[in-house]
Amino acid sequence: DKGNYRHFMAKEIHEQPDVVARTLAHYLDLNAMTTKVPEGLPFDFANLQRVVITACGTAFYAGLVAKYWFERLARLPVDIDVASEFRYRETPLDPGGLALFISQSGETADTLASLRYCKAEKQHIGAVVNVKESTIARESDVIFPTIAGPEIGVASTKAFTCQLSVLASMAVMAGRQRGVLSADDEGRLVRALTETPRYMVDALKLEPQIERLARNLAKASDILYLGRGSSYPLAMEGALKLKEISYIHAEGYAAGELKHGPIALIDETMPVIVIAPYDKVFEKTASNMQEVAARGGRIILITDQKGAAAAGVETMETLVMPDVPATIAPMVYSIPIQLLAYHTAVFMGTDVDQPRNLAKSVTVE
Ligand code: F6R
Repeated sequence: DKGNYRHFMAKEIHEQPDVVARTLAHYLDLNAMTTKVPEGLPFDFANLQRVVITACGTAFYAGLVAKYWFERLARLPVDIDVASEFRYRETPLDPGGLALFISQSGETADTLASLRYCKAEKQHIGAVVNVKESTIARESDVIFPTIAGPEIGVASTKAFTCQLSVLASMAVMAGRQRGVLSADDEGRLVRALTETPRYMVDALKLEPQIERLARNLAKASDILYLGRGSSYPLAMEGALKLKEISYIHAEGYAAGELKHGPIALIDETMPVIVIAPYDKVFEKTASNMQEVAARGGRIILITDQKGAAAAGVETMETLVMPDVPATIAPMVYSIPIQLLAYHTAVFMGTDVDQPRNLAKSVTVE
C-alpha cells in the first residue's frame, strides 16, 4: 500500500525517520546511552585483526561508509569489495576473522557465494540483512537485522539508511570493545545516533526546493557527484540512484580524484553535485569545488550553514542541511540524494518503482 504517496519509493524515503529509529533502538540502550551487544555474539571485536565486508550495489556503498567508521572509531581495518569480484579473487583469510555481508534481500547470488567462500575459510559470518528468513541470514553465524520493513521500490532507500544505522552502531560497539572509545565517547556517539531520525525529518523539509531543482537536472545528460571521506560512498550512491531510475548518466567520484581525470569533463552543461558537510575534510572539498567553478561547472552544493558560508564559490543551488554530528552525516545526507534522484525521475516520467532492466533481488550472477 502506497498510502498517500505516488510511488513506493516516495513512501519509503519518507519512512526513514521511523525505520531508522526502530533499527537504532535494536542496537542502542537509550537509558544507559550504550550500544547493545547482541546476545551470543560469537566473537569479540577486541580480538579481531580485520573485518572483510562484501556486498553489491547500494549495500556495497553502505559497507564503504562503514569502512570509514570502523577504521576511525574502532581502529579496526576493513577490506571491502563487491561480491562479484570477491567471490573469484581467492583472497587468503586468517581463520577466526569476521566476514560481514550486507544485503537487503539476503538472496543476492554473488553475496551468498562470497559468504560460502568465507565460511570455507573459517571466518565468523555476520549478516546485515533486512529479510530475516533469507538464505544469507540462514547461513550466517550472527544476524544484524535492519528493521526497515518490506522495501518494494526497486531502488533501495530505507534499507540503505537502516544498513548505515546498524553499521554505525556496530562500529561504536567495536570501538568500545577495543578500548578505542571511552564510556564518554560511546555516550556521546550514541546520543548523536539517536538524533538521526530528527535530523532526517529536517532534511525531508528540503523536498520542495529539491523538486524545483530536479526540473533542471532532468535536462542534463551527464551528472557528476563528488564527495570526500564518508561522503565519497554517498556520491557513488547518489549517482547509482539517479541512473537507476532517471536513466541519466551519472558518476560518483572521490573529490580528490577530480584532477586525475574527470575534470576534463567539466563544462557549463554538466551539473556537479557536491556532498560536503562542514567536517574535517570540508576545506579540501571546497578547493575541488573551486576548480569546478573556475571551469564554468554548475555546482549543486549539499552542505550545512557553515559549509555554505565557507564554500567560496557561486553555486547553481545550495541545499542547506541541518548541522549534524559528523558520524551521522551519511544517514542524513542520504535524504537529499534520494529525493534528487526521485524527483528527477518523476519529472522525466520513468517508471520509478520498477525501472527498466532491473530486478529487486538478483538471485543469478
Ligand atoms: C540499488 C539497488 C541494488 C541493490 C543490490 C544488492 O538501488 O537496489 O544495487 O542494492 O542489488 O541487493 P541486496 O541488498 O538485496 O543484496
